[in-house]
Amino acid sequence: MTTPTWTPDSWRAKPVKQMPVYADAEALRSAEARLARLPPLVFAGEARRLKKKLARVAAGEAFLFQAGDCAESFAEFGANNIRDTFRMILQMAVVLTFGGGTPVVKVGRIAGQFAKPRSDDFETRDGVKLPSYRGDSVNGIAFTPESRQPDPERMIQVYNQSASTLNLLRAFAQGGYADLNEVHRWNLDFVERSLQGARYRDLANRIGETLDFMAACNITAETSAEIRETDFFTSHEALLLPYEQALTRVDSTTGDWYDVSAHMVWIGERTRQPDGAHVEFMRGIKNPIGLKCGASMTPDDLLRLIDILNPANEAGRLTLIVRMGADKITSQLPPLLRAVKSAGRSVIWCADPMHGNTHVTASGYKTRAFDRILLESRGFFDACHAEGAHPGGIHLEMTGQEVTECMGGASAVTEAALADRYETLCDPRLNGTQALELAFLVADYLKGGRKSKAKE
Ligand code: PEP
Ligand code: CO
Repeated sequence: MTTPTWTPDSWRAKPVKQMPVYADAEALRSAEARLARLPPLVFAGEARRLKKKLARVAAGEAFLFQAGDCAESFAEFGANNIRDTFRMILQMAVVLTFGGGTPVVKVGRIAGQFAKPRSDDFETRDGVKLPSYRGDSVNGIAFTPESRQPDPERMIQVYNQSASTLNLLRAFAQGGYADLNEVHRWNLDFVERSLQGARYRDLANRIGETLDFMAACNITAETSAEIRETDFFTSHEALLLPYEQALTRVDSTTGDWYDVSAHMVWIGERTRQPDGAHVEFMRGIKNPIGLKCGASMTPDDLLRLIDILNPANEAGRLTLIVRMGADKITSQLPPLLRAVKSAGRSVIWCADPMHGNTHVTASGYKTRAFDRILLESRGFFDACHAEGAHPGGIHLEMTGQEVTECMGGASAVTEAALADRYETLCDPRLNGTQALELAFLVADYLKGGRKSKAKE
């Protein structure tokens, strides 16, 4: 059987889920045409470099750390927010690298993470029914008919905000901020005062000693780019296909198609139908891609999707982002690990311990319990170790801000405290201290895995 031809718009002939209905088709076409003329946000060569790094993860030689906001927003846009998220990612990556003893590939959910899948197309409040909020790339969060109307001009604003965000991230990554000699300064003020902050300070001191030793051997920030700067990549869910299509371009070096809206894009849990529009779009782009795997994913579904999305079995192409929930991971993940192994497919197994552990409290807050997040993370590592697969990464929703959205952790956010600083537009995020605590635990799991391998 021959595979049907792919084009950047071949998804349009397939059934599509989660797509906004734009009232003005002409306005949509105009926005798409303008987007299609705008310069790429990332280069195909960078996406290839990320794929190479991910191939090392697939081979068990590195670890993927993917994290950031659930949803970026127009209102929260600003240099401080970008810096704080970047700083959190650097800080956690250094904990994983030094504590876990493994190279870490850093990928942010940032500079493009604006579109959100929703369980319901409509939201009803006090008898008034309006379209659901689908992220700032689609409509506004205010509960009014005007704001909830999907507006294609928002895609242009997403492009512009993503471009400025990327510009600052590139400056941070290469302009000295990410120099390992700055490791002490990556602690956020409120994290500094916590137990995790003290633990981090201790680790930073040890890194400082290591750098002193290396400097004595003539390896310094001046002589070595690895010390002076860092590689940082961007990613988001490729949900809003008109936007993604407009930013899909032929790479002049290879003649291949790349989605140049981000280095990596992923398919969400609600849009992974093998014959659906999102899978169709993703199969044709050459970026490294992710696929969310919830508890309902069967081994047959997964193998079928792998055949479509990575037919050449290219290492680093496909990251399976597992989000099953703390209750289901131990029963649902092992059959997938076994099926992929016996089919000889190269994938990266990455844990998303957030999205399967969301619940709504009695007072109406959407939250996640820190101990459920830990339980799922632990379950993921244990299952991978038991089945001889490499636990290749972790995917988190977190913020550099001191919010109270997830419950528990050493700082013990209680159900009553959720109201204090509940700021998310969508899903509850780990705050700085909770995220750092998780990084230390994951570093321990990584080290544990290496030790048990060494004993074999
Ligand atoms: C997300 O990552 O924000 C998300 C919506 O995830 P999922 O598709 O796994 O529900
Ligand atoms: Co989310």
